[in-house]
Amino acid sequence: MNISAVRKILLRSLLLLPVVAVTALWAANPDELATLRKSDIAVDTEPQRMPEVENKDVKRTRNYPMQPPTIPHKIDNYTVNLNANKCLSCHDRTLTEQSQAPMVSVTHFMNRDGNFLAQVSPRRYFCNQCHVTQVDAKPLVDNDFQDVDSLLTKPE
Ligand code: HEC
Ligand code: HEC
Repeated sequence: MNISAVRKILLRSLLLLPVVAVTALWAANPDELATLRKSDIAVDTEPQRMPEVENKDVKRTRNYPMQPPTIPHKIDNYTVNLNANKCLSCHDRTLTEQSQAPMVSVTHFMNRDGNFLAQVSPRRYFCNQCHVTQVDAKPLVDNDFQDVDSLLTKPE
């Protein structure tokens, strides 16, 4: 590419600058941003109460077979770090008799090549990467997820 071509490109991108600036200004309009908090972005509102974590100890339906089951109990102060894994103190293979918790499934012992390790695989060590608690709260936005079973029975 010669110098004049480069200069042309630079000049053209300079011409675009005002367009970008105006678009950014329009995007930052507070009325447009206030959708989820339901008030003006510049207004301090009373924060809502934090919803309670559900602690009913009842398994929830999985929305598809590969879904990590959601956690049906509280996990406050359950440490998971390099030195300790509170979750495994109940869910590990050797500790489920005592805890009566379901054992982590076999996939948690597999390495990325599909081979089974003797202990929980490092890639399944940080449980909260995939498993989450649920709170008793109204969803902020509608959810139109459809279970695969309802799709299978849906008429064409
Ligand atoms: C004190 C023992 C204990 C600890 C610690 C514990 N759990 Fe549990 N967990 C249970 C028991 C018992 C159940 C069976 C349902 C119930 O009683 O809540 C369960 C159920 C679950 C389930 C539901 C499984 C299913 O099939 O639906 C998940 C997921 C889970 N626990 C993840 C975790 C994670 C992640 C941690 C750590 C942050 C953790 N648990 C810590 C005892 C424990
Ligand atoms: C990378 C994601 C991931 C991580 C990390 C992970 N899990 Fe899971 N877990 C899953 C998925 C997906 C399933 C459901 C399918 C399966 O069994 O693999 C599952 C299933 C489970 C079940 C139900 C087992 C059964 O047979 O019903 C328990 C209990 C569980 N996990 C506990 C844990 C604990 C405790 C940890 C941390 C030591 C952990 N998981 C880490 C993804 C994960």
